[in-house]
Amino acid sequence: MPELLSLALFERTSRTLVVKRKDGHQPFAGAWLLPAAVVGSEESAEEALERHTRRELGVELGELEFAETLYLEDTTQAERYVVNIFKVLDHEGDLRFRAAGDYDDARWLSGDELAGVGIAPALLDWLQAGRHEVALPTGPVPAPAGGATPDNRQGWNAISRAYQEQYQISTDSLVYGPRCPDESELQLLGDVDGLRVVVVGCGGGQDCIVLAKQGAQVIGIDLSDKQIEYGRRLAERERVEVTLLQGNAEELIGIEDESQDLAISLHALGYVERIDRAFAEAYRVLRSDSAFVFSVHHPFFASLEGGPPYGAVKSYWQREQDWQWDFPEKSVSARLRSWYRPVSEWCSLLTDAGFRIERLLEPPPVEGGAIPWDKGYNLEKMRLIPATLIVKAVKP
Ligand SMILES: C[S@@+](CC[C@H](N)C(=O)[O-])C[C@H]1O[C@@H](n2cnc3c(N)ncnc32)[C@H](O)[C@@H]1O
Repeated sequence: MPELLSLALFERTSRTLVVKRKDGHQPFAGAWLLPAAVVGSEESAEEALERHTRRELGVELGELEFAETLYLEDTTQAERYVVNIFKVLDHEGDLRFRAAGDYDDARWLSGDELAGVGIAPALLDWLQAGRHEVALPTGPVPAPAGGATPDNRQGWNAISRAYQEQYQISTDSLVYGPRCPDESELQLLGDVDGLRVVVVGCGGGQDCIVLAKQGAQVIGIDLSDKQIEYGRRLAERERVEVTLLQGNAEELIGIEDESQDLAISLHALGYVERIDRAFAEAYRVLRSDSAFVFSVHHPFFASLEGGPPYGAVKSYWQREQDWQWDFPEKSVSARLRSWYRPVSEWCSLLTDAGFRIERLLEPPPVEGGAIPWDKGYNLEKMRLIPATLIVKAVKP
């Protein structure tokens, strides 16, 4: 009788968690596999997996979904196993493997990378053929309850390097969001040559560099010191002059009243708690007849789960949400706090601050998007509801 094994399929943005079993730890000693539990005679396949992942990976499994049964041969001991694979739909706790346990390495690998580590052929075929449905976590992964209030400055400092390496944001075109038409298509800013522009939440400075290359005099403000440091190095490499300051959108310190011809903010205002103050500050620093253009995560998108059947994960009116951003390959993660404000609230806060709304855009996804940002998003979901909200407001 072949022995029974249960395998746990953990997935994140098209990557699968694979682990390397230590030499001498049967079955599949020395081989790469999904986290695997030998099923004892007194337990179910799911119970074995729960016991194993609790001990070896430090997590409590939540809902599991049966995915497949395979027969795998462990060639080192000429043993065949009946393997039941379960997709882990949710779990509690951060994944970390015990040095003293069954594994001596763990990685999140994409379909192509899986072939490189030498996984059992039948399992590799199954994983690569995508015979399982991949639920892409395109929304925020809710942070475990009960933690301290996330500090966004600290969080962005912690992930800045990993974020910049992974996202490789363009310094040649302004990108409003994942699979979003860029500025060359949307034409919201007009000719920026000679304009004084402030970029609120400028991150690693890419948006500032794009505008400076087009002749604008740019000041970028960002909460994270690390993002600002990265931006300064990037601007130097690109031989572009921009002023990058650590600061808060809620108080644009160092920028004089009515000194700017344009303000922009791309995917940053969702991290700002007192958006009323940020809007008042943008209004203060802009001269009359100048525009404030920004993009944020669309609040509808944030309310629905990342994969089919796209059920609600939170109320549309629940603004504040703590979440965790993991960069497993860099062993970096941060807890962040976002605010997903209803569309009507963005509009009324803008008009309360004195702005007139000129354009409101909810672009359908650009098919065939190719930038790293696009890849973490489920295109099917983006075809159903907008992922990005873009607003152009004007100070009268
Ligand atoms: C997703 S990045 C956006 C920057 C750039 N457009 C990009 O795509 O990388 C979000 C940025 O907002 C910044 N941020 C968060 N809260 C902020 C605040 N209150 N004031 C200024 N910047 C803030 C973060 O530090 C981070 O660099």
